[in-house]
Amino acid sequence: MKNHHHFPGSSPDSERITLRMEKIIIHGGKPLTGEIAVSGMKNAAVAIVLASVMTEDKCVIENLPRISDVDISLELLRARGVRVKFLNRTTVEIDSTVMDSELYGEDDLARKMRASYYLVGALLARFGKARVGCPGGCDFGARPIDQHIKGFEALGADVVMEPDVINASASDGLKGASVYMDVVSVGATINVMLAAVKADGVTVIENAAHEPHVVDTANFLNACGADISGAGTDTIKIKGVKQLHGVTYAIIPDMIEAGTFLILGAATGGRLKISNVIPKHLDSITAKLEEMGATIEQDDEAVTVSTTGPLSRVNIKTQPYPGFPTDMNPQMCVLMSLAQGVSTLTEGVWENRFRYVEELKRMGAKIKVEGRTATVEGVGALNAAQVRALDLRAGAAMIVAGLAAEGRTEIDEVHHIQRGYEDIIHKLESVGADIRMVSIPDNLFDKAN
Ligand code: EPZ
Repeated sequence: MKNHHHFPGSSPDSERITLRMEKIIIHGGKPLTGEIAVSGMKNAAVAIVLASVMTEDKCVIENLPRISDVDISLELLRARGVRVKFLNRTTVEIDSTVMDSELYGEDDLARKMRASYYLVGALLARFGKARVGCPGGCDFGARPIDQHIKGFEALGADVVMEPDVINASASDGLKGASVYMDVVSVGATINVMLAAVKADGVTVIENAAHEPHVVDTANFLNACGADISGAGTDTIKIKGVKQLHGVTYAIIPDMIEAGTFLILGAATGGRLKISNVIPKHLDSITAKLEEMGATIEQDDEAVTVSTTGPLSRVNIKTQPYPGFPTDMNPQMCVLMSLAQGVSTLTEGVWENRFRYVEELKRMGAKIKVEGRTATVEGVGALNAAQVRALDLRAGAAMIVAGLAAEGRTEIDEVHHIQRGYEDIIHKLESVGADIRMVSIPDNLFDKAN
């Protein structure tokens, strides 16, 4: 499969949908104080929205994050005749009683995000065949989907990769099988789980990913009548069922959004309460913040971060859950830059997740990347600059850096941030941040504004 560039979508028309000409302007250097409520988890929402069509029924999904990756997921379904209706801002009804398996004119849409690959598992489960545009998403080097394909093939599907389309079919129906994952993959674990739910017989996924969104997707499917056990462990067992039914289901809180705000609190030196979280999901993050000298207070559904002085250095390696999340790599690198001493940050999941380092260096960070390890010399304070959001979490890291740095920071390519952070400007304004989003008419924004 070809390697996808970081800017998904190719036709000028489709680019217009996601490329909003906007930038973020921050006047940083102020401590932030107050409470931020976390939204539903992006990486669970995109899986559950697409999996809902396996029910051939009406599903009501609550706590849906209003972000562009969710909009794209819903568009992918609408393009196939599924009826989508918002009941309130964060609750959507997806009625897939009628769905067209032959419509696939939305290939450009599929390329606008990574999770469109879940449509392959979902459509295979529903129709025994799937034709879906190749996924896009953030650029961290190669992002193969060989483990997804291996799993579908083990269940009896033929998978043909056309230049821009994944074509899968199981003419004799899907049959339960044993699937050993060569790498721990969130996407492949969920996708094979989807395909196996209505297969004939039992499927066992070994070396499965443990992420909370794997568990949330399994819980959703079980609520629809699936028979999945072991989600959250190495071994997931799926007994095929004939039929699913619609449900009302609330998505879990987003641990990466929560972790980003915790780091923001530590970086800006105020006191931030992050609510609507599952504190257990944040253990790997709060442990490292405490090791750096931040104070963490926990209650049932909230975690509060504050600091009493400069933070100290730390070493971190990103790993699959319950390890320190790769999706917190860029934000943590900002905090390491603000700390005292030399930290190391090793990326254990993606081939290349350090593209943002060049942007951070424009703000005065001292970072050396060798292979998969960044050596980060603490500089105490960053300076404001004009930077780019090179991908979703890199963009979040630029916001953290901009809010910590004295002066005016401008962040370009904001559409990456909008893929995964709901209403981030208002959430941050509510805790005292001086941050705004501005449109750039004709690409010529007057800097004096
Ligand atoms: C999910 O991507 C997330 N995306 C990513 O979040 C996240 O960084 C990643 O998991 C790791 O936690 C969604 O859930 C939509 P993987 P996914 O398959 O599923 C290798 C964010 O910022 N691999 O777990 O695509 C792969 O190269 C995003 O929210 C194979 O070799 O990631 C990587 O090294 C960005 N073959 C490792 O496994 C495969 O078939 C983990 O990838 C699949 C993956």
